[in-house]
Amino acid sequence: MEFNKEIFEKSIDIVIFGATGDLAHRKLFPSLYNLYTDSSFKDKFNIIALGRIDSSNSDFTSRFNDTIPQKKERDDFYNRIKYFKCDFTKKSELIRLKVELDKVCNSRIFYLALPPAIYNETISSLIDTGLNIPCKEHSTFTRIILEKPFGHNLESSIELNKTILSGFSEKQIFRIDHYLGKEPVQNIFSFRFANNIFENIWNKDYIDNIQIKVLEDMGVEDRGAFYDANGALIDVFQNHILQILSILTMEKPHEFKEEYIREEKNNILKSIIYESSLKAQYKGYKEENNVSSESKRETFIALKLKIQNDRWSSIPIYVQTGKYLNEKRTEISVIFKKNGSRLFKGSNKPNILKFLIQPDLGIELNLLGKIPSVSDYILSDIDMLYKYSDYFGELKSEYEKLLIDCILGNQINFTRSDEIENAWRLVDKIENDIKNISPIIYEPRSKGPSNLDEFIKKDSRNWE
Ligand code: BG6
Repeated sequence: MEFNKEIFEKSIDIVIFGATGDLAHRKLFPSLYNLYTDSSFKDKFNIIALGRIDSSNSDFTSRFNDTIPQKKERDDFYNRIKYFKCDFTKKSELIRLKVELDKVCNSRIFYLALPPAIYNETISSLIDTGLNIPCKEHSTFTRIILEKPFGHNLESSIELNKTILSGFSEKQIFRIDHYLGKEPVQNIFSFRFANNIFENIWNKDYIDNIQIKVLEDMGVEDRGAFYDANGALIDVFQNHILQILSILTMEKPHEFKEEYIREEKNNILKSIIYESSLKAQYKGYKEENNVSSESKRETFIALKLKIQNDRWSSIPIYVQTGKYLNEKRTEISVIFKKNGSRLFKGSNKPNILKFLIQPDLGIELNLLGKIPSVSDYILSDIDMLYKYSDYFGELKSEYEKLLIDCILGNQINFTRSDEIENAWRLVDKIENDIKNISPIIYEPRSKGPSNLDEFIKKDSRNWE
């Protein structure tokens, strides 16, 4: 990997707010460890871990023994981490942090992996303390990474954007959506805009409908309180699915640069309209820890959407996402219009292009082909499959890639303030429409509610 050398002439202090949380444990520190073992980054960054509990450095680092594999470098990595107890919302505590950081005057990345309720206050304290300003304005940078959810509705996201933009410029802000770090999601750009055969038919004249599925096999586990306040719509649709959809349907950017890409994605987010929904909850959800026994919260949602622009106007977009289903799978299906002629007997399935995001990574194209025989011309369904594993070795994790992007100042895979607000504008409408509806109950480890097929069959279509 080749990186701009200048970036690494100075070390970087990565300051994690919420270092004792679940995200830090499962994703962030293992990714930082991988970064540390990459020769381009070794010795280039220090980690300052901030949490609200008292802990010695060694007790803090030993938390990661189960998520960071025992390798020779692990102890060296642990030595790079300094843990401090800190009340993030208190200006006096952040002044102490500033004094320490100013002693070395490195570039800084503040990573906020905090409960959404304390985002505003923490960001305000960072700004009031002057931590938003690079230590030496011309030779170092200061950036901030924000975990989702960014607000809990349109109003709160506008307020949060206002707070952060009062001290940080958009160039300094990295709103993270880990789906944008997934290799097959990033590949949608190149697939669409580098392969001429597809871009020319990427519209309502050739495509019949689009389907996006983000299916999960686990329940809410120990996140009952968070989940009961949010549900599938906010947890996954508001961010991951809308981001995928905007990349899949956006116009070609003028150049492959963040400002053009974010503009085109935002145009899509402004044009999505909501038509109908199916809300469901898995049996037993109301007995989960920290979930209200009266909860109407959806653990599954299916939606029908449209995009109001010349390219897409009439075609439906169906999405489904939920927890405690019979599989963990994320995929996007682009279903083409059927070939009208009936020259041949046999299958008349439409051509379907599938972006396989996980657990398999790849692209599948479903076609029709002649069944070998002497004189009959009968069609069968056949598949062409591109598997990442056939071409490329081990891939970096989403978080690792996004951390590198942030270090390099590359914002292509991060969302801009207006994208977030337009996503909320749509989600608020849906949330208003569904909030008083009692969810349909589905069996854990099933395909979801029993009327899921009906939801799409009434448009004479099937889930693919
Ligand atoms: C997170 C959601 O953003 O994405 C979780 O909060 C969900 O509820 C997770 O489980 C899914 O991510 P992935 O990468 O496992 O599909």
